[in-house]
Amino acid sequence: MRVAALIPAAGSGTRLGLGPKAFVEVAGRSLLGRSAAALVPHVDEVLVALPAGLTLPRDVPARAVTGGDTRQASVLALLRATDAEVVLVHDAARPFLPGAVAGAVIAAAREVGAATAALPVADTLVRAGPGGDWGNLIPREGLWAVQTPQGFRRDLLLAAHGAALADGFAATDDAGLIARTGGAVRLVPGDARLFKVTTPGDLALAQALAPVWDA
Ligand code: CTP
Ligand code: MG
Repeated sequence: MRVAALIPAAGSGTRLGLGPKAFVEVAGRSLLGRSAAALVPHVDEVLVALPAGLTLPRDVPARAVTGGDTRQASVLALLRATDAEVVLVHDAARPFLPGAVAGAVIAAAREVGAATAALPVADTLVRAGPGGDWGNLIPREGLWAVQTPQGFRRDLLLAAHGAALADGFAATDDAGLIARTGGAVRLVPGDARLFKVTTPGDLALAQALAPVWDA
């Protein structure tokens, strides 16, 4: 079965504030370059969704498509650009992808049809009250924080995206679209290093981790 890595990289990086985030560099290498390089050993091809008007840097071994206004639209554009039986969707903004996680997600996607990396929540969770102070405690038992990569049989994910589009349903990830239509999604243990570079604080963490990761 052919496997394609799909990298949504078309975001504008508003919260980080340094321009299109996929092109932001950490220790001399872009977030996109790092994510793509980590995926290459696990897949037959790599596809990247880019912001309109931007082109793929030469050191990124991939094929590019133009992304959409939302992550969901960018993933749909990527899905339509491949005929691989299995797809591995991975955010450009998660540059540190351990190979064992990629392999485990692909294996689970083959078996179940859909799978995602995720981590058991470690912090105490609270919903803020109307004034912004402590409202209600949310028991964290059984709660997982969802990461990428997420793996799917492509026909299943394409159908779930089609249903979401028809219903005007918006989601921040792809496994949620499968679950919404009643499909099974296997939770595969992820990794703390798979954090998403979202804010300047996350970028500082990435800069601290990169020399260790690259060594
Ligand atoms: N993404 C995308 N197309 C969009 C929006 C997001 O391909 N229209 C991608 C981003 O490039 C990123 C991943 O989806 O790799 C996760 O999105 P996020 O962390 O929210 O990145 P941005 O949307 O770029 O950041 P922000 O929300 O702060 O603007
Ligand atoms: Mg965003």
